[in-house]
Amino acid sequence: MKNALLVIASALVLSACGDKTPQPQNGLSDEVIEQRINEIMPQLSLDEKVKLCHAQSKFSVPGVARLGIPELWMSDGPHGVRAEFEWDTWNYAGWTNDSCTAFPALTALASTFNPNLAHDFGHALGEECLYRGKNVILGPGVNIYRTPLNGRNFEYMGEDPFLASTLVVPYIKGVQENGVATCVKHYALNNQEVWRGNVDVEVSERALREIYLPAFKAAVTEGHTWSIMGSYNRYLGQHCCHNKTLLVDILKDEWQFDGAVVTDWGGAHNTQEAAYNGLDIEMGTWTNGLTAGTRNAYDNYYLGVPFLNAIKSGEIPESVLDEKVRRVLRLMLRTSMNPYRKPGSLGSEEHCQTALNVAREAIVLLKNDNHILPLDPNTTKKIAVIGENATRSMCKAGGSSELKPKFEISPLEGLKKAFPNANITYSMGYAGGPSMYGRVFPPSINTDSLFKAAVATAADADLVIFVGGLNKSHQQDCEDGDRQSLDLPFGQNELIEKIAEVNPNIVTVFISGNAYAMPWIEKVPAIVQAWYLGSEAGQAIADVLCGEVNPSGKLPISFPVRLEDNAVHSFGEDIVYPGVEDGNQWLHKETYKEDILVGYRWHDTKGIKPLFAFGYGLSYTSFEISNLDYSTMKSTIKKLNQPEKTTYVFRITAKVKNTGDCSGSEVVQVYVGKKDSNVERAAKELKGFQKVFLNPGEEKTVEINLSSEKMKYFDVDQHDWVLESGDYEIYIGNSSDNFQEMSVRID
Ligand code: BGC
Repeated sequence: MKNALLVIASALVLSACGDKTPQPQNGLSDEVIEQRINEIMPQLSLDEKVKLCHAQSKFSVPGVARLGIPELWMSDGPHGVRAEFEWDTWNYAGWTNDSCTAFPALTALASTFNPNLAHDFGHALGEECLYRGKNVILGPGVNIYRTPLNGRNFEYMGEDPFLASTLVVPYIKGVQENGVATCVKHYALNNQEVWRGNVDVEVSERALREIYLPAFKAAVTEGHTWSIMGSYNRYLGQHCCHNKTLLVDILKDEWQFDGAVVTDWGGAHNTQEAAYNGLDIEMGTWTNGLTAGTRNAYDNYYLGVPFLNAIKSGEIPESVLDEKVRRVLRLMLRTSMNPYRKPGSLGSEEHCQTALNVAREAIVLLKNDNHILPLDPNTTKKIAVIGENATRSMCKAGGSSELKPKFEISPLEGLKKAFPNANITYSMGYAGGPSMYGRVFPPSINTDSLFKAAVATAADADLVIFVGGLNKSHQQDCEDGDRQSLDLPFGQNELIEKIAEVNPNIVTVFISGNAYAMPWIEKVPAIVQAWYLGSEAGQAIADVLCGEVNPSGKLPISFPVRLEDNAVHSFGEDIVYPGVEDGNQWLHKETYKEDILVGYRWHDTKGIKPLFAFGYGLSYTSFEISNLDYSTMKSTIKKLNQPEKTTYVFRITAKVKNTGDCSGSEVVQVYVGKKDSNVERAAKELKGFQKVFLNPGEEKTVEINLSSEKMKYFDVDQHDWVLESGDYEIYIGNSSDNFQEMSVRID
């Protein structure tokens, strides 16, 4: 019903403007949007304009009813549409018609290395937003995976800026082609949850530009996201939700972002900075607005009455407000006032299929000794499924990304279906305690007896499938807290060791959004990394274990052997992580001493072997990559009053052949390095990839274009990207630690 009202309201505005021109199918043209903005602006009172710049409820911004301008509704994000909240509290509304499709978490999407799936994911999510009357989805998240302790890594797309950039663009396009905006978050440098509200990040401009900003830049300049969310932390001493350098200089001036900047919930801190430093919409400044007892609480936001008064008194010019309002109206005309929006759908079969496709391609096979996997689907063996994660819901926790799924297939359910003739017994093995946001609760169950029962069940079985990992409780993979160590929690290491002792036929499956240590690695023949896979989790896991699906996921993160092997933790200093006090106990600061050497860039450059490398993942078949070659295209352009600019494009080719006996997909990856560089460089950096599907014996040629634009480094003194001449090493392979080499030259 709400949808219908919104459409009528926008139709009124349009007819009032006398629109007769033919329109494109899924939205108003840019020209028409700008025309509408020009028409609406003079009709708005000062009061109405200020109200457009801040929330009126937990997740909405008011419209202007007098002019038929509808409200703007937002929802978390980023793996599905979150259940409905009460107007003014953090209580769920208790609706019975808001159960969604839970899509896999973004780390899982990143593991697919498949931009087409990112598009399908975004498109389906956009349709779910339409059905729910949401105009802005609060996601995707593209903060870089800096430390495996970050509680929100599962919401992001891994440790490599090129991978995240390549996937974020089709995701955005998929969502926005529905007339629903993405709100790419959290811009920028929000790489941990500890002290997230105040930590001041000191990072070189080079690392900022080369590592932390590229995915945001791609989201803006290629994906054309219609909104972006500032982060809680600080940069150059200023909160990122009203940070001049990030929002005005880089985002709006340099990247020409024409959408609206939204605060993270409660991320605004003062009116002057909010007014001048690029913020457009203030959300969540304090919670429970009306019920807190303050009259018109939302009007008291920094961009509410204090802003209005400053304009009235002439302290802040009205043009500052107008600039924001134009952006908010643009966002509305693209979404809530888009008359071509479709009704959308929620939890449809197509959406579940998309969630399943992503989940299946996301699973990474890390180890498979003696081809223990896949298991025979007709097996009549006694299988012991052990581990709490075999039955625990992973959608209903984790902070703001939690979801109320229409259904969620657990691994145990999936396995029972995939192995109908097997004799499956289940034992919990360990207990993670109840899921509580912001708090750790010990389990009320006797963990000793769980341990013993699991070991006995394992000893009595032909095969063990252990399903463990992290969960979405506080200090696991959850917002507002970081993990306390790299180890698996709840005694799982001891349990796995003991099970492997009584039954060496053990297949391990781990559900997590982060890397973890594997001290028992030599004792288990098979390891499967399953991430948080959403509604179809159990189905996808079972499909891989029984061979219905040949795994093709690749790690979007490095798995270090020990925490100290990770760049950030190698320093062992609080100033590097999680930060130290900055003047008083309420403020912290942190220095990214590892600079550009994040993730595999650190492992490779420093010669620290990871447990599993970025880009790694096995298959049930085998592939051969051969015949590396390249051709060079050189073009020179000369613009008036500018120096001549030469661009090279290296067209890299390689043959890839399926040399095994089942069909499967391989991801051919291209990394670039420069040994004789004048500046410190990472040993290699991902600059291209392509996923190819091959039947047994089939061979295809992959072609990956590498532009010299991608080979530049950011020079802090010149404040610009610089292309060095000379030889570059090109590494082509199927992971960051398995490749062949050739070199190309730039004159
Ligand atoms: C999170 C955001 C989220 C917002 C609204 C904040 O705490 O950091 O990612 O979109 O809440 O729930």
